[in-house]
Amino acid sequence: MRTIMASMEEGGSSETLRKAGEILKKGGLVAFPTETVYGLGANALDEEAAARIYEAKGRPSDNPLIVHIAEEKDLGFIVDEIPEKAWKLAEAFWPGPLTMIFPKSEKVPYGTTGGLETVAVRMPDHVVALAVIRAGGGYIAAPSANISGRPSPTTAAHVSKDLGGRIDMIIDGGSVDIGLESTIVDMTEEVPVILRPGYITRDMLERVIGHVKADKTLLKVDGNHRPKAPGMKYKHYAPQADLCIVEGSQECVVGKINECIAEGKAAGKQIGVIAADETAKLYKDGLVKSIGGRTEELVIAQRLYGILREFDELEVSKIYSEAFETPGMGQAIMNRLMKAAGHQIMKV
Ligand code: TXA
Ligand code: MG
Repeated sequence: MRTIMASMEEGGSSETLRKAGEILKKGGLVAFPTETVYGLGANALDEEAAARIYEAKGRPSDNPLIVHIAEEKDLGFIVDEIPEKAWKLAEAFWPGPLTMIFPKSEKVPYGTTGGLETVAVRMPDHVVALAVIRAGGGYIAAPSANISGRPSPTTAAHVSKDLGGRIDMIIDGGSVDIGLESTIVDMTEEVPVILRPGYITRDMLERVIGHVKADKTLLKVDGNHRPKAPGMKYKHYAPQADLCIVEGSQECVVGKINECIAEGKAAGKQIGVIAADETAKLYKDGLVKSIGGRTEELVIAQRLYGILREFDELEVSKIYSEAFETPGMGQAIMNRLMKAAGHQIMKV
């Protein structure tokens, strides 16, 4: 398949949007930028179109898709019941990096929801995304536009690397703003539950609707609990090299990682390191990537997936990462890093 590449970086063109709309209405696949990560769009109301997403990504068929809308009034068409708290959250955070889960209406096929009776909905805060959704008929299913198991794409080049030749069109809108996927909140429970942490934190949600719970599995693997978002159970965002997080005081972490670099070097192995700007220069001999200042959580979030992809190109045999605990997005950053590491963590 030939993939059409179009750029929307300089304001874009109505011709690109017309073409994207035509492809989506015919059941095809269009990748487009959002404020979180690039999405792979298809008509959410068309089961066959949704099936093409699973095929292109190599995604397990029980992993449901998020339906993207551009107008708040469109929510009622795909959702059976909208609690008052959901309207409040929509008012506060839409358009934006928040996905809410509702009982689905009969208009949404099971092929889009992975067989579930519920549907995830989000209104992205990105002019190109909103224009593509409108052009495509208003209801666009869009998972992250990566091959399943790879880090989510934060540039059009990442999308092209994974899905070039497998989808109809890629719209380039430059680098995304946030770099981590949206916060997912299950609104079908009396007390809403966070299923995936993101830019919108528990505090931000609680300021609007009061008590919110967090899924027990967000930061720990736990044999007794299954994550309620099916996608959260997979080893995800995985770089090709083995990744290990090293946690402890700065001095111990730097000491331990330097030891590991030296051992690797003695065995003829190239070792990668993900470090904060403050500590990056303290590592000897490793291939060190500086992810941002320790307290610059927006920079860390935005760079994380790109760095994991860069290490894939460099063919390092092992990656060690510092832990990044920041007050706001820290939980989201560590949740993704832990999953990339398959929960391998060394406490020193
Ligand atoms: O920021 C984002 O949300 C991006 C951009 C493109 O909008 N999209 C995204 O989609 O991250 P995806 O498919 O990569 O992740 C969707 C997650 C999965 O973990 C999936 O299991 C969960 O949402 N999910 C979707 N529908 C659900 C449902 N009805 N119940 C529980 N979890 C659901
Ligand atoms: Mg994804």
